[in-house]
Amino acid sequence: MTDHDDNLRSVAKRVGFFHQTAENYGGEGGLWTLGPHGTGVKRRIENDWRQRFTVEEGHVEIEAPTVMGEAVFEASGHLDGFDDMLVECPQCGQSERADHIVEDNTGIEEAESLPNEEVESLIAEHELVCPECGTDLTGQSVIDHNLMFETSIGPGSSTPGYLRPETAQGIFADFHRLKQYENKQLPFAVTQIGRSYRNEISPRGGLERLREFTQAELEHFIDPAKHEPDLERVREVPVTLYPSEAQQADDGAPFDTTIGEAVDEGVIADPWIAYYIGIAKEWYVRIGIDPARLRFRQHQPDERAHYASDCWDAETEIDSDWLEVTGFADRGSYDLRKHGAHTGDETAYQIFRPFDAPRTEEQVVVDPDMSVIGPEFGEQADAVKQALERKGAADPSAFDGDTVTVELGNGEVTVPTDAVDVERVEVTKEGDHEHPKIIEPSFGIDRIVYSVLHHALEVDAVPGSDDQRTVMSLDPVVAPTLAAVLPLRDTVDDAARSLADELRSAGLPVEFDAGGRIGRRYRRQDEAGTPFCVTVDPEGVVDGSVERVTIRDRDSTAQVWVPVEDLAAELTALQAGAREFDDLLEAYQIRTEPKAEAA
Ligand code: GLY
Repeated sequence: MTDHDDNLRSVAKRVGFFHQTAENYGGEGGLWTLGPHGTGVKRRIENDWRQRFTVEEGHVEIEAPTVMGEAVFEASGHLDGFDDMLVECPQCGQSERADHIVEDNTGIEEAESLPNEEVESLIAEHELVCPECGTDLTGQSVIDHNLMFETSIGPGSSTPGYLRPETAQGIFADFHRLKQYENKQLPFAVTQIGRSYRNEISPRGGLERLREFTQAELEHFIDPAKHEPDLERVREVPVTLYPSEAQQADDGAPFDTTIGEAVDEGVIADPWIAYYIGIAKEWYVRIGIDPARLRFRQHQPDERAHYASDCWDAETEIDSDWLEVTGFADRGSYDLRKHGAHTGDETAYQIFRPFDAPRTEEQVVVDPDMSVIGPEFGEQADAVKQALERKGAADPSAFDGDTVTVELGNGEVTVPTDAVDVERVEVTKEGDHEHPKIIEPSFGIDRIVYSVLHHALEVDAVPGSDDQRTVMSLDPVVAPTLAAVLPLRDTVDDAARSLADELRSAGLPVEFDAGGRIGRRYRRQDEAGTPFCVTVDPEGVVDGSVERVTIRDRDSTAQVWVPVEDLAAELTALQAGAREFDDLLEAYQIRTEPKAEAA
């Protein structure tokens, strides 16, 4: 942990951004609570994400349960393929990520993509030890650990379920309903913000690796032959890219370009991924991510999730390390194919595409001989029959040979064609059914909150003094408190309190703070990230009513003297980014130049 990270953690605990949950009981790794200020930042980021990625894009949002039955995750591939590598210490029993032990001690990157046996060999070759107690791990097995939390739905154990490891499956499993709400027309996109769960092996640190976390995911369903994104909208957006090829080359490095150039030169192959990287870049900067500490790194082929054919991560720089905050994945039609096969209702997960003109085609009407299929496939016989019928409609040539292979939810089966009565007929079709392709930007909201806080934290000199101050320089759009109303003397406490109430009634997140010397109160608000202080001075109060106030800017500490009737409108404009504090310096009397603010 660096000094900066240490400082962030102590500010976070002291002020109320985040802390480990149930610390007095020892706490559990990967379970953290957002305090009042952290929750404020997170809600603003979520709301801004919803505004940008759902409302402004014209998409729709849903809310699915966080727990679902086993069949959903069997279909999605998470039951079988969503594992991390676990090695257990023979001495202290500590469970560790075997790939992380290898990466941290050998300089080998992406050990996750190696087979378990190779990781075991590397542990032996480098005599790697348990990070907890120092015991040699040579000879310990590296096993797959499934990251899903298992539970039972209802009493007893007859209905196994899992806490969702991604919000996305709630969208894919119910695609048949969602396409109806969209009049069965592509393209459309569905978003969801919600909790997901991963039973990480040994999460250390804070918000970087959580066992319960919030995702904001967007699933865009398209026909790639027909639909294109509005690339002109993002063509000039500057981005730092680190493609897979550059990562593999000896002298490869991230480089600066624009979205337009990256698409024209084929660096980002899919224009939809490029589009979402472009609007995401603008959004990250808007919420306070430092663009110099943000890059987009393409996954190496052996690093991709089981469902992705290409993926780029947005990564933020945190103390010289890079933290993945968003994945932009090309999921192809993987998920819809799987749900179609597992539910036995393939067309539910497809879109009907009308032909320009009706087409006459040969089709095979199949009538499986159940006296053969029944004994051969037992409980699966009905599913085999239906799969054969679907195959006949979709691919008549499949019945030309001695056998035909069909896909069931749990694998393929091969059937002799003489067990199937095949009749070839001419049919006129108006169109066909196709699986849409899915582009998925998936944002890790807690990691984004953590990055915003990391990039916002500064220690600088108090103007006019030798003191240092800690400033959380949060943008007004994400700051949990926009302004703190501070009475300068107790004679104006009541007037200041009424003013704070009025501002709250105008919908502004405002705090009232009457406790202690004014310098100390400024310091408190600086640490909490409050962009503005509204100071009520007896000089601006006439007959108990506030007529003028000072607005103090957190970052410059400059102050302006503002008529109270302008106050709510000016704060609202500052919050929305419609006005900068510099505009106020031009519009109003400068009350004091930055001055001594020592507490
Ligand atoms: N939906 C992508 C992920 O959870 O990583």
